Amino acid sequence: MTPQTENPEPSPAAESQAGPPQTPAAEPTVVTVGEGNGAGGNQLGYDVVIGNGLLARLPEMIGPSAERVLVIHPRALRATGDVVREDLEKAGYQAVTAEIPDAEEGKHIQVAAFCWQVLGQNDFTRSDAVVSVGGGAVTDLAGFVAATWLRGVRVVHMPTTLLGMVDAAVGGKTGINTAEGKNLVGSFHQPAGVLVDLDTLLTLPRNELVAGLAEVVKCGFIADEQILQIIESAPDQAQNPHSKQLRELIERSIRVKAEIVGEDARETGRREHLNYGHTLAHAIELAERYQWRHGAAVSVGLVFAAELARSLGRLDDATADRHREILTSLGLPVSYRDDRWNQLLEGIRRDKKNRGETLRFVLLSGVGQPATVEIPDPSILYATYQEIAEPVSDTTVSL
Ligand SMILES: NC(=O)c1ccc[n+]([C@@H]2O[C@H](COP(=O)([O-])OP(=O)(O)OC[C@H]3O[C@@H](n4cnc5c(N)ncnc54)[C@H](O)[C@@H]3O)[C@@H](O)[C@H]2O)c1
Ligand SMILES: [Zn+2]
Repeated sequence: MTPQTENPEPSPAAESQAGPPQTPAAEPTVVTVGEGNGAGGNQLGYDVVIGNGLLARLPEMIGPSAERVLVIHPRALRATGDVVREDLEKAGYQAVTAEIPDAEEGKHIQVAAFCWQVLGQNDFTRSDAVVSVGGGAVTDLAGFVAATWLRGVRVVHMPTTLLGMVDAAVGGKTGINTAEGKNLVGSFHQPAGVLVDLDTLLTLPRNELVAGLAEVVKCGFIADEQILQIIESAPDQAQNPHSKQLRELIERSIRVKAEIVGEDARETGRREHLNYGHTLAHAIELAERYQWRHGAAVSVGLVFAAELARSLGRLDDATADRHREILTSLGLPVSYRDDRWNQLLEGIRRDKKNRGETLRFVLLSGVGQPATVEIPDPSILYATYQEIAEPVSDTTVSL
């Protein structure tokens, strides 16, 4: 896959520049995904722990049966990966690290093969464990490695991007890319636990944080209006990694995802609602050869879905307009170039929600009321697209 070269390359040194959080750390919050007691193993019933300075909780999630732990991290998080390894060694594990290529470059079969090699050379058994430290690309790759090594070992995710925290680390989807496309190979492999250490966001480049907020807004529209209200009353605080508002947004978004995947672990029903805004978003990502941040594409996709629901008479004007307003207040894009419709329609036709020739979209009939809707006449899509299309020269992409 093409690397996302647009992103500023975060330097490993950036990690040590971040100071401690300005407010005293509050108690961690625990969200349990699915039924059960957090026993882990490839099943629902695991905890997502959200807070500051959570490293000490890692052994508890890995469990006592593991002797060896592989910590997988990208170069940008080498210092964090080393701290995690040292901590695990102090806790009595034999810990090794695997440093993998950054972002999408890490979601490659050769990177998985490298990790399998490290596991094999270090005699990892069925009861040993993998820990991911990084964004969604790392949780996807590490989850895939854990799912496939000896047909499945425990994995604990430590997401370090906002998108990783509210989306990729929760729900058990793992995957790698192939030459033919993104996430075409993978499996469902539930983590044994997820540690969301908010301190890691202090070094995250701002464009990555803002991109992650698109998924937060999505969670607000499909299931939790409070999320929208928090952002509306303080859009700046929503982008501040020190703020109590961002913490609450993360907790609420994780609850939304946990609730949905707890009910529909393998995407046969309600889980499709998490795809709100993603039909056009995936088509934009494809048209942009993955040079756009996923969250930026989702932002445009959310506005498109709202306009489509409005055109179909399903959604009131105020709620449709609210999409554009809230996303704009976060600096996310809400329009796309007007000369790409045919390409976008091709992408939309490839969407996994479609059944045969019938196009399907997740649409709202109000905040918290999503449904998957069949679009019998695609001409309405083109008409709706005019609501978000911008002449090419006017389209500015900030992410
Ligand atoms: N499994 C799922 O359910 C699921 C859901 C959504 C997305 N995803 C996947 O997630 C991936 C995108 O995740 P992402 O947006 O987190 O991107 P990413 O993992 O590529 O991380 C973005 C960039 O931020 C850097 N980074 C990460 N944490 C940092 C930190 N704390 N400080 C400084 N730099 C840091 C990374 O090195 C990378 O360059 C995609 O591959 C997507 O397919 C999976
Ligand atoms: Zn998404």
